[in-house]
Amino acid sequence: MKPDLSIAMKPHAARRAALARALKAGIVILPTAPEVTRNADSHYDYRWDSHFYYLTGFREPEAVVVMKLGRKPKSILFCREKNLEREIWEGWRFGPAMAKESFRFDEAYPISELDQRLPTLMADEPTVHTPVGADGGWDARVTGWLNGVRAQSRSGVTAPEEIRDVRATLSAMRLIKDGHETALMRRAGEIASAAHVRAMRFAKGGQREYEVEAELMHEFLRHGAGAAYGSIVASGANACVLHYRENQAEMRTGDLLLIDAGCELYSYASDITRTFPIGAKFSGAQKDVYELVLASQLAAIKAVKPGAGFGDFHDVAVKVLARGFIDLKLCKGTVDGVIESGAFRQFYMHRTGHWLGLDVHDAGDYKSGGKWVKLAPGMVVTVEPGCYIRPGPKVPKALWNIGVRIEDDVLVTPKGHDVLSKDCPKSVTDIEALTTGRG
Ligand code: GLY
Ligand code: MN
Ligand code: MN
Repeated sequence: MKPDLSIAMKPHAARRAALARALKAGIVILPTAPEVTRNADSHYDYRWDSHFYYLTGFREPEAVVVMKLGRKPKSILFCREKNLEREIWEGWRFGPAMAKESFRFDEAYPISELDQRLPTLMADEPTVHTPVGADGGWDARVTGWLNGVRAQSRSGVTAPEEIRDVRATLSAMRLIKDGHETALMRRAGEIASAAHVRAMRFAKGGQREYEVEAELMHEFLRHGAGAAYGSIVASGANACVLHYRENQAEMRTGDLLLIDAGCELYSYASDITRTFPIGAKFSGAQKDVYELVLASQLAAIKAVKPGAGFGDFHDVAVKVLARGFIDLKLCKGTVDGVIESGAFRQFYMHRTGHWLGLDVHDAGDYKSGGKWVKLAPGMVVTVEPGCYIRPGPKVPKALWNIGVRIEDDVLVTPKGHDVLSKDCPKSVTDIEALTTGRG
């Protein structure tokens, strides 16, 4: 059956027009992602390339978008042909004719004609805009097409002299989300928030971490979303492993459970972390660390506003944490000393956020000319400070193996910011209501 993509495909033609305006001249050649074998004849779940999707809304493998730039830009899709036999086994394919209509291309051809048509399309273009160095096989194909143009030189055509990485311009465009994107990301934030609430209610001592992961997936799937990345469900000491993915351990009542889980909705990610006591209230030590990370996160979110540098909210988060680490006797000295020496990194060793969008760690530079990129309306960042206390001779024993991270998704708005994951509870009172069956 033809999938309903109406919500996902509207803005793509406008984005192609914007890219054409930005690049001015030449030809864009952008492939989607390949299918990847998992084992034997099984593939990993297919995920299209994010740049390609941003420009096309097209989700089938084996597709390439070509754009002839200039005063009257033209977009051409190469995709799989319709094939009743394959569609019986694998499902619907648009085929060039229907893809052209549905996705508003000027022309569309079977992907099998790409090699034959490209040398002609590239002839007399000054520049090829394509991903450079992302995939050796792709680079070789581009070189082959260039040689195809050069082979026609006696008929008077010239080959492009310049090859530029189209991802630089696309990444800069993707940094500022349009209204369509922020609407999807807001919804992705709501769904993931509901999943975290479900987990807070569900988790009990004696269960395995993967049982909680199943609850998260239940909530994602029932809203038409999937996991944006492998969910981290880390109880007890596992919370101090930053990229913990086993999710196998038996949980103990009263231990903390750190869940880093977000969903992907129409290709847009949410990325939320919450930490809560399993079927219980926070212990005194847990609460001390939790309240510190929460204070750091709230202060950092406040620093997300237009004109601030991308690095500013990290600095704010670190300052609050450093003060707290001294108060908790994790670090010695002054706040400035703990920051300058980097001593805080024993307990907080990652940065406080990243761009979020089609990719969880989304496209876009963080620095420009050696300075942090300035935040602007339409950008989306995560704000995710944490504290991870591994046992050690100079570490107060009461705090051993406590790991806390709190992560929200924050849209920069003209007046400041809007937390897209605000439905996900994070105050001690709200969390305890859920973990003790009162909420
Ligand atoms: N979930 C990946 C991250 O927080 O960056
Ligand atoms: Mn994150
Ligand atoms: Mn995360």
